[in-house]
Formats: sequence, structure tokens, C-alpha cells
Amino acid sequence: MTVVTVCVGSSCHIKGARQVIERFSELTKAHGLGSQVELKGSFCMERCGEGLNWQIGEEPITSGSVEEAVETFLRRLVPKA
Ligand code: FES
Repeated sequence: MTVVTVCVGSSCHIKGARQVIERFSELTKAHGLGSQVELKGSFCMERCGEGLNWQIGEEPITSGSVEEAVETFLRRLVPKA
């Protein structure tokens, strides 16, 4: 099980954290990853200003936009067909 944690602090919220969670949730369902990926929200990760902050496991990730976060999610977590 991989835990994906998305910062929902105010700075990341303004940049689209809610859409990031919605898209990650849709992708998790669409690709049948429900038993492999767990989505969580987190308070401020203290990296505000850098972009949208989230983590795959313990690895910190910063994305410049919702689309960029989706691309990273697909590349890292969705097995190639
Ligand atoms: S609000 Fe996301 S890092 Fe601070």
C-alpha cells in the first residue's frame, strides 16, 4: 500500500489542492488501484510558496499545477499497460 498525502493547508488549497485530491481519487478508481493507493490530506507541510505540495510515501513532491501533479501521479503510480 502506498500512501499519497496531499497538503490541504491554505496556500496549497488556493493553488488547487482540492482538485488534486479529486483527480487522484478518480485516477485511483479508474485504474483499479484502490487496494494499492491510499489518499490522505494533511495540514500545511511547511513548504508553502513552492507550489502544490504532496507526498508519495515519505517522498516530498512539489507540482507547479494540478495537471503537473496528475502527470506525476500517473507516471509514478499507475503501472504501464
Ligand atoms: S499550505 Fe501546503 S505546504 Fe503550506
